[in-house]
Amino acid sequence: MKLQSSALMLFVILILFNTSLFGQTANKASDYQIIPKPAFQEILEGTFKVDKKTKIVYNEELNKEASYLSEILGAAIGKTLKIETKAEKGAIVLKLDDAIENAEGYELVVNTNEIVISGKTSTGVFYGIQTLKQLMPSEIEIAAKIASAFTIPAVIVKDQPRFVYRGMHLDVGRHFFPVSFIKQYIDLIAMHKMNTFHWHLTEDQGWRIEIKKYPKLTEVGAFRNGTIVGHHPGTSNDQKVYGGFYTQEEIKEVVAYAASKHVTVVPEIELPGHSAAAIAAYPELSCFPEEPTDLGKSPMSEKSKELQANGTAKVVYETWGVTGDVYCAGQEHTFKFLEDVLSEVLPLFPSKYIHIGGDECPKGNWKRCSNCQSKIKALGLHDEHELQSYFIQRIEKFVNAKGKQIIGWDEILEGGLAPNATVMSWRGTKGGIEAAKQHHDVIMTPGSHCYFDHYQSKDKDSEPLAIGGFTTVEKVYFYNPEPEELTAEEKKYILGAQGNVWTEYMETTDYVEYMILPRMTALSEVVWSAQDQRDWSDFELRLPNLIERYKAMNLNYAKHSLAEEK
Ligand code: ACM
Ligand code: ZN
Repeated sequence: MKLQSSALMLFVILILFNTSLFGQTANKASDYQIIPKPAFQEILEGTFKVDKKTKIVYNEELNKEASYLSEILGAAIGKTLKIETKAEKGAIVLKLDDAIENAEGYELVVNTNEIVISGKTSTGVFYGIQTLKQLMPSEIEIAAKIASAFTIPAVIVKDQPRFVYRGMHLDVGRHFFPVSFIKQYIDLIAMHKMNTFHWHLTEDQGWRIEIKKYPKLTEVGAFRNGTIVGHHPGTSNDQKVYGGFYTQEEIKEVVAYAASKHVTVVPEIELPGHSAAAIAAYPELSCFPEEPTDLGKSPMSEKSKELQANGTAKVVYETWGVTGDVYCAGQEHTFKFLEDVLSEVLPLFPSKYIHIGGDECPKGNWKRCSNCQSKIKALGLHDEHELQSYFIQRIEKFVNAKGKQIIGWDEILEGGLAPNATVMSWRGTKGGIEAAKQHHDVIMTPGSHCYFDHYQSKDKDSEPLAIGGFTTVEKVYFYNPEPEELTAEEKKYILGAQGNVWTEYMETTDYVEYMILPRMTALSEVVWSAQDQRDWSDFELRLPNLIERYKAMNLNYAKHSLAEEK
């Protein structure tokens, strides 16, 4: 009995000790609830008090990070915090430290008389600030006032990412999202210590980026005359004109915003497939400019039917799936068009990479097209797969000459890989494995684990319409981007992984949020934290701290994986 009660007492003490400030319940005495899980953390005694006297001291190079921290802490206490470059006692110190090995690594030390955040680079310091935020009440995420003074629990964190590429993709072709949402999406990427936004800007159903030399791309290609209703092939057509695009000024604004959050924007300009919107604008890009756009079994809008009856053959695609109307590979003006487009796109994005698509390009038109067939003969190619390879390699040469590298979906392996291409493996991991064995860089995005357009429940009737599949948060969490089939040497070609968000069935920003949260939360840990740190019950205990933040940010997260909210 005595033993039992002292055990109970010990249990109560442990619970009290674990219930740290702001109701955070650490699962182990040595842990705070941080996602992605840091490589190392040790809880220290005490707290650091933030109030109106708190100053931020920084190295010159960290001016932006100091301003950012001053802004969020200033909002939290209701008074702007001073930032200065001169050492001060009791300050929050931001500094660069060459002794930190990883370019994105950082150390965060909070104790009663100071906070020090050191990074190898400003990116590392930015990530240290993200961790610091997770030690504070969730209002810090929305620049709301917390109190005129509040405390941060003492801790030492030493941290660094597992992979250099930690991405989230968004398809703005099927559904268009405003710049304000794109910025929120970038905020989420940064908050989870991810570093790449893959912006899927062109699709059959809409061309979304202003190209000054080809104004019809957005005048015609950015708007469709209707959209199918229900699951593909659809029960009817909604008959509503739908569309939108980003001006080059808006693109620059987004890229600059992303840079301030240490996020790189990788644009995707799809070729040779998924190009029906561009073809609707410039029909000569098709092998058969006179052949009317065919939606298969899907119902077409009355407006498009009327256009076709009056001799306008090509319209922007109104249904989902894959169309056979792709860029003609046999005519020089296709390449002239694409090179002109890329010449406008590349300077807008400081990214080393541009994604050129390469997926789902049916070869039927190329088989029937005399220009494509002549090209095959003239180049001594065996088939249409080699023609696609020629297409990609030609574009790669152009992109490389401009000092950039291409990423392509794994179909670019077919017919021979372009010499410097990075492969994004989506049809499972096979393409990624093959590319790594050929010593090409790889980004893993297998449908099985990284497609956030999949259902989150087996009970599909209880869910909003999705494309199919079934991918839980737990399944994402246990994804290992380094396939067992690869040797240690080959694994070095795996740059990282990415969550893909195809928006056929995501019409609203609310729905996008529901599909990514908290699956991207799980993925952030996959790409940041070491593989041997994977522990689901530990993650489940840390997740509520992030959920509190999503609530504060008014985000529509999914609840399937949350024990208390199921
Ligand atoms: C893809 O999902 N078609 C890359
Ligand atoms: Zn052709």
